[in-house]
Amino acid sequence: MRIILAPMEGVVDHLMREMLTEIGGFDLCITEFVRVVDQLLPARVFTRLCPELLQGGKTRAGTPVRVQLLGQEPQWLAENAFRAVQLGSPGIDLNFGCPAKTVNKSKGGAVLLRETEQLYRIVHAVRQAVPVQFPVTAKMRLGYEDTSLTLDNAIALAAAGATELTVHARTKTDGYRPPAYWPWIAKIREVVNIPVIANGEIWQPSDAALCREQSGSTDIMLGRGALAQPNLALRIAGGGGSTGIEALPWPEVLALLMRYSEFEIAGDKGLYYSNRIKQWFSYLKLQYPQAEQLFAKLRLLRRSPEILALLQSELAQS
Ligand SMILES: Cc1cc2nc3c(=O)[nH]c(=O)nc-3n(C[C@H](O)[C@H](O)[C@H](O)COP(=O)(O)O)c2cc1C
Repeated sequence: MRIILAPMEGVVDHLMREMLTEIGGFDLCITEFVRVVDQLLPARVFTRLCPELLQGGKTRAGTPVRVQLLGQEPQWLAENAFRAVQLGSPGIDLNFGCPAKTVNKSKGGAVLLRETEQLYRIVHAVRQAVPVQFPVTAKMRLGYEDTSLTLDNAIALAAAGATELTVHARTKTDGYRPPAYWPWIAKIREVVNIPVIANGEIWQPSDAALCREQSGSTDIMLGRGALAQPNLALRIAGGGGSTGIEALPWPEVLALLMRYSEFEIAGDKGLYYSNRIKQWFSYLKLQYPQAEQLFAKLRLLRRSPEILALLQSELAQS
């Protein structure tokens, strides 16, 4: 089984990847998407989003990090994909799941699920541009409004040369509302002959087991669940459950939050950190009642040193 850390724009940055892969259980990470419109992007755009490129395309724990691209123009996506692998990305992931309809002129993400031929053209062009030893993977939702094109889209992505396919088992219209329709992944697996990674609504080891059973997929991708419970991948990889590894105790989560703060203070990016840590809290609250109480105090703070001081006093009391 492989467990992959989901791309999450605005939350899963290199600091988060660093921490989560250090805790363990992940075999691969996908970056937040790089938006491609109508130009070859400079190297700094890739290294800013994926500083791991400067250290062999891996986190310090040794987990590979694959760059994700989002856009609609096959040729520009192909050129940028080639650049990303030249810079050290161990492959390319293409985003066909982002719910935003049009952003900055680029029609990328889930809206392309209405255009099966365009999906084919994009993956084909990127596959042609990227040397064969590097995987070119696609991440799709079940559809835009409905599932009428689900199987056609999956077939097109595979026929165009995608190495593997991740399926977030919901339409764009479903948004992030539970459930995720894992049995749909099994239907997709019947029509394509590439590995299919199951994604959506895995919050606990028991969800992972049910998802694998209903989808028939060996490999899974974790998004929000990995933020709510930072050792979720390790629990799943280790068997989880009552006899396996338990969820991290709250003081250890506090220590992680402090570590994240310290990383950021070293990088000093103004409000970037306080916004991101607040996003992280919105997921931690789902698993840890203590996070809910702490968030009430943290919500109003904007600067890293203030947040760090609050975390320190919290840890001292825990
Ligand atoms: C805040 C947020 C940001 C996301 N950003 C991306 C992204 O950049 N690229 C992408 O393919 N999917 C993105 N997704 C979708 C996730 O990768 C994943 O498919 C989705 O959250 C379902 O998995 P989960 O239930 O395990 O969270 C994002 C989801 C969230 C909640």
